[in-house]
Amino acid sequence: MSWIQRRSRAIAPAALIAAASLVLAACGGDDDDGGNGEGAQEIPTGDASGELEFFSWWTGGGDSEGKEALLQLFEEQYPDVGVVDAAVAGGAGTNAQAVLASRLGSGEPPDSYQRHAGAELLSDIQDGFVEDVSWLFEEEGWMDVYPEALLEQITVDGGIYSVPVNIHRSNLIWWNPAVLAEAGIDAPPASWDEFLTQAEALEAAGKTPLTVGPLWTQEHLLENVLLGELGPDAYAGLWTGDTDWESQEVTAALDMFTQVLEHSNLGQAAADWQPAIDPVVDGDAAYNVMGDWAWAYFETVQGLAFEEGYNVTESPGTEGMFNWLSDSFTLPVDAPNRDNAVRWLQLAGSQEGQDTFNPVKGSIPARTDPDSSLYTGYFEMPLEDWSNPDTAIVGSLAHGAVADNAWKGEIDSALQEFVGSGDSAAFAAAVAQAYEDTRP
Ligand code: GAL
Repeated sequence: MSWIQRRSRAIAPAALIAAASLVLAACGGDDDDGGNGEGAQEIPTGDASGELEFFSWWTGGGDSEGKEALLQLFEEQYPDVGVVDAAVAGGAGTNAQAVLASRLGSGEPPDSYQRHAGAELLSDIQDGFVEDVSWLFEEEGWMDVYPEALLEQITVDGGIYSVPVNIHRSNLIWWNPAVLAEAGIDAPPASWDEFLTQAEALEAAGKTPLTVGPLWTQEHLLENVLLGELGPDAYAGLWTGDTDWESQEVTAALDMFTQVLEHSNLGQAAADWQPAIDPVVDGDAAYNVMGDWAWAYFETVQGLAFEEGYNVTESPGTEGMFNWLSDSFTLPVDAPNRDNAVRWLQLAGSQEGQDTFNPVKGSIPARTDPDSSLYTGYFEMPLEDWSNPDTAIVGSLAHGAVADNAWKGEIDSALQEFVGSGDSAAFAAAVAQAYEDTRP
C-alpha cells in the first residue's frame, strides 16, 4: 500500500474533526467576514520581478535552515525577485505575532506571513486580513494531495486561507543517552509518574531532569503532560468544551504538571527553545520536551548523531498519539507584491518545495506524496505514526491548532500565574471562564 493511501485514511479521527468544527463554529457562518479574494484568482504569467517580503519567526539555529533552503529555491526559480526576509526572532512566533498584529492592523501587510494552520488563523479571516486561496488549491491540484482531514481543518465557510508547508509533532521527549546511562536509567519514562521516579535518580547523579525555556515552552510541556495524563479523547475535549477543565481528572493532571516542573530548571528558564536544549546537549540535563524542530538543532546546529548523541520518543504516556501542528503561509489582502506572493505560495505547496524544506526543518510534508527516501533516521517515526490509521491525532495548544487567539491569550496569562502559584484549581477555573468569555 502506498504511503499516500495509508496516510489519507489515517488522519480522520474524531479529534481532528472536532477541532475543525470548533473552527467552523467560531466563524459563525457569515460569508462576508472572510478575506475577499480581491486579486485575480489565477497563477501569474510572464516574468517575475520586484520584491517578495516574507514574514516568519524563523531566525535562530534550527529554525532558519529550512526557511533558507526554501527561499533559496524560490530565488533560483525567480532570480529577478528580491526576497526580503522579514523574520522576527522568538520561538513559536510570540514576538512575531505581536509585530504582525500591528502591521495588519495598520494596513501594512507583508507579501506572505507565517501562521499556524487551525484556530490561530480565525481572527485574521474574521478581520478580512487574508484572501481565500482555495482557487490556488484547485488550480494546483492540491485538493487531491493534501490529506482530506487537514483540508477540512483549514476550511472555513468553504474558503481556505493559508497553505500548510509541513506537519510538526509536539509530543516528543528528547534526551541525552550518556546522562541516562550515568544515572543508571535504561529507557525514557513511559509515564509522568515514572518520570518523577527517574528525576530522583537524575538529581542524585547531579543532573537536571528536565529543562524548560520561556512561557510558550512551558505551555508546550503542559499540553503534553495533559495529553499523557488524560489520553487523546479527554485532551481533545479540552478544546471543544467536552472535557470539564474543573473536573478531578484535569486537576490531577495539572497537579502532575506542577510536580514535573519541580524537577526542571524553571528558576533559570532559558530565553528560548534552543538554549533550553543546551544543558541536554552539554550533559548537564537529561530531558527536554519539544517539537521536532529540535531535530534540526540537535543534528544540524550541534552536529549530534540520532540515537548516539541524542535520542527522542513520544513524550510520557503518549505512545500511539500524534499531537500535530502545521506552519502555513497566507496571501494577505492588499499584499504589495501579490503576484510574487502567489508564486511563493505555489512553491510552498508544491512537492518540490515541501521536499526541499521539510528534511531540513525537522518536519514531514503536509502533502501526502513526499519522496520518502528523503525522510530517514528520526523522520521514520513521524512518517509512520502520521500514516498509521491507529494513531490518535490531536492538535497543539501552544502552536495554534486548537484555541483561537482570544482564548489562547487568556490561557497564556493564566499559565503565567499558574507556574508561579501551582494552584491547579485556580488555573482550571480561569481557563474554563475564559472559554465562555471568548466564544464569539
Ligand atoms: C513553532 C513552529 C515551528 C518552529 C517552532 C520554534 O511554533 O511551528 O516551525 O519554528 O515554533 O520556533
